[in-house]
Amino acid sequence: MQVVIVETAAEVGRLAAAKIGHRVRTRPDAVLGLATGSSPLAIYAELARQVAEKGLDCGAVRAFALDEYVGLPAGHPESYRAVLDRVVVGPLGMHPSNVHVPDGSAADLAKACADYEARIAGTGPVDLQILGIGANGHIGFNEPTSSFASRTRIKTLAPKTRADNARFFDTPDQVPLHCLTQGLGTILDATTLVLVAQGEAKADAVARMVEGPVSSMCPGSALQLHPDANVIVDEAAASRLTLGDYYRYTFANRPPWQRFEDFV
Ligand code: GLP
Repeated sequence: MQVVIVETAAEVGRLAAAKIGHRVRTRPDAVLGLATGSSPLAIYAELARQVAEKGLDCGAVRAFALDEYVGLPAGHPESYRAVLDRVVVGPLGMHPSNVHVPDGSAADLAKACADYEARIAGTGPVDLQILGIGANGHIGFNEPTSSFASRTRIKTLAPKTRADNARFFDTPDQVPLHCLTQGLGTILDATTLVLVAQGEAKADAVARMVEGPVSSMCPGSALQLHPDANVIVDEAAASRLTLGDYYRYTFANRPPWQRFEDFV
């Protein structure tokens, strides 16, 4: 696992976007895994800037969303399909038909999950999966005690997750109870993982993910099993890491071929 600690939340987004942009320049039809939530917003804004000012072309990029709410009416502005259209697909000039989201309004949700897995398998592997982490350690919507072998499936959102996401809805009870989410096994199939976290509220989850035991009680700790997991955090989110100085030292002394930000 590579842990990168930078000063500010803005720098987290810039560095992660540099890595992602470098991947797309290397492979214009790269398959990206897209996360929602506030954590990756700076990444998407920086990628949009690269598209507008640096000639980055995302027109052939293919993408799979991590998750989707169940039961929101079609076109609801907080459905992850709508959010991704608004903050990623349009600003990055992606082709909407190349961007896939689990169908949380399907009549047969189990079939929608199986179809989603089949589509990923037929297109993938996902080259680079973008991730945030919930305060309870969840990734995607894989809540604590999710199986590390899990695939895309229906989950019940934890009360803490519903409360955290209530800020996007008019009232807390409008947050759906259920979701479809890629499983931890699905996420671990991606070639590269890039997880970003900012702020003190994520410090405990980050420490458990990076330095705690590999345990389904902290789904993010599954990243310890992945051969190319990159965790990019600001100082506040890194504040409970035991080996912070070591991560700063290894990043400062990284070999030239890892300096993807030089290519932006
Ligand atoms: C959300 C999403 C996750 C996200 C996490 C943290 O509910 N399903 O993909 O990483 O919770 O959200 P935020 O980035 O807003 O803190």
